[in-house]
Amino acid sequence: MAKGRGRRDKAVRRQYEEYPYPPRDPADEHSRLIEGSPSHLDELNHYLFSGNRDFSKPFRALVAGGGTGDAAIMLAQHLSDRSDQGTVTYLDLSSASRTIAEGRAKARGLTNMEFHTGSLLDLPDMGYAPFDYIDCCGVLHHLEEPERGLQALDSCLAENGGLGLMVYATLGRTGVYPVQNALKLMIGEKTQSEQVKMAKELINSLPESNWLNKNKYLSDHKLGEDAALFDLLLHPRDRSYLVPELLSMLLDCQIELVGFIEPIRYRPETYLKNDLLLKPVKGMDEGDKAALAENICGSLKTHTFYAKKSSNTAKTVAKFNPEMIPILKDKNPDLLVKALSAQSKLNVGFDGESHSFNVPEGAAEFVAVIDGQRSLSEIQSHFSLNWQNFRNRYAATYTLLNGLNLLWLRSS
Ligand SMILES: C[S@@+](CC[C@H](N)C(=O)[O-])C[C@H]1O[C@@H](n2cnc3c(N)ncnc32)[C@H](O)[C@@H]1O
Repeated sequence: MAKGRGRRDKAVRRQYEEYPYPPRDPADEHSRLIEGSPSHLDELNHYLFSGNRDFSKPFRALVAGGGTGDAAIMLAQHLSDRSDQGTVTYLDLSSASRTIAEGRAKARGLTNMEFHTGSLLDLPDMGYAPFDYIDCCGVLHHLEEPERGLQALDSCLAENGGLGLMVYATLGRTGVYPVQNALKLMIGEKTQSEQVKMAKELINSLPESNWLNKNKYLSDHKLGEDAALFDLLLHPRDRSYLVPELLSMLLDCQIELVGFIEPIRYRPETYLKNDLLLKPVKGMDEGDKAALAENICGSLKTHTFYAKKSSNTAKTVAKFNPEMIPILKDKNPDLLVKALSAQSKLNVGFDGESHSFNVPEGAAEFVAVIDGQRSLSEIQSHFSLNWQNFRNRYAATYTLLNGLNLLWLRSS
């Protein structure tokens, strides 16, 4: 067993040395910043620090398994846009990935990052802790014992700090593991590039009955990128989670879920419209609701979520209170205002599948006045409503847009 684990550890490292993932070119930093979840600064502030974190004060972030740098670069850029007090520590097994991430930091002129090569399992002995925030996206599911990885992260987290995590979700990956297993039976001692060749041949030979062929939500193997193909079908070690399995791992590590991204995908009401079906949902706790939503939806490929230590009693998720400032993920509200005013339904695509949501009354007028500066109480006075009436009128819009991860709150 220990021998097999050592071999797989080496194989994981070898994969990311030859195929850093996702493939990135530092030169592209001159034309765009890749932003996403977890770890967008406004998003993590909303979910982990009730929107109250002051980023003009020191803030230490760790990106564990930082890969080619997406989260680390975004976070370092966001922090440096706010002040010179935030730092990002990057750690990854793969030196090839680190070279790319460092190149991206250099292209942006970021000076608030430090880079290390090594395993996150060794973090407790590395002496970098404590961190206010730890990102670990797409990494834990590649460890022999993901719980040990989570415990290593937890040991470096400040008491009131938070985690932004992503692990694979089982149902949306339907079809991946039979093909992985088939390839494992065939690849023997082949080099990685020979494995890629074989995987491409196999994909072309799969019968219609194969579940990978039937799963329209998966496309990484069709992108023409060898790194993506390898990551999906030739990974030496990966596993996926159903919501209850994920919650059970968190519980074992004394970590508490704060919220899934996008929240609306984890609400049964997103998929169920019938009273008979919705009635039992009312009595469920949040974990069962999320598990139910996952089972009904069927296409979730990843679980992205924020979490904290169970012992952390500080407030986490920001609340729709007068002093809070609403902020749109896309700073320019024009497109959203247009979509909200055009029809009574808002159509949103999740993994290419369209979902339709009722547009709450007044949604467009509310979004039109969000400028990232005005607080809710200022917006309230703009509409000449008292707080209760304002809240009654716009809370549904907030719930919808926050659920779609388009709108967050912060206090200053
Ligand atoms: C799928 S990539 C994800 C990279 C990045 N987090 C992202 O979301 O773009 C997984 C990364 O985890 C790294 N990794 C795997 N096991 C690790 C470990 N034990 N310690 C540190 N990094 C690890 C790999 O080298 C690889 O760069």
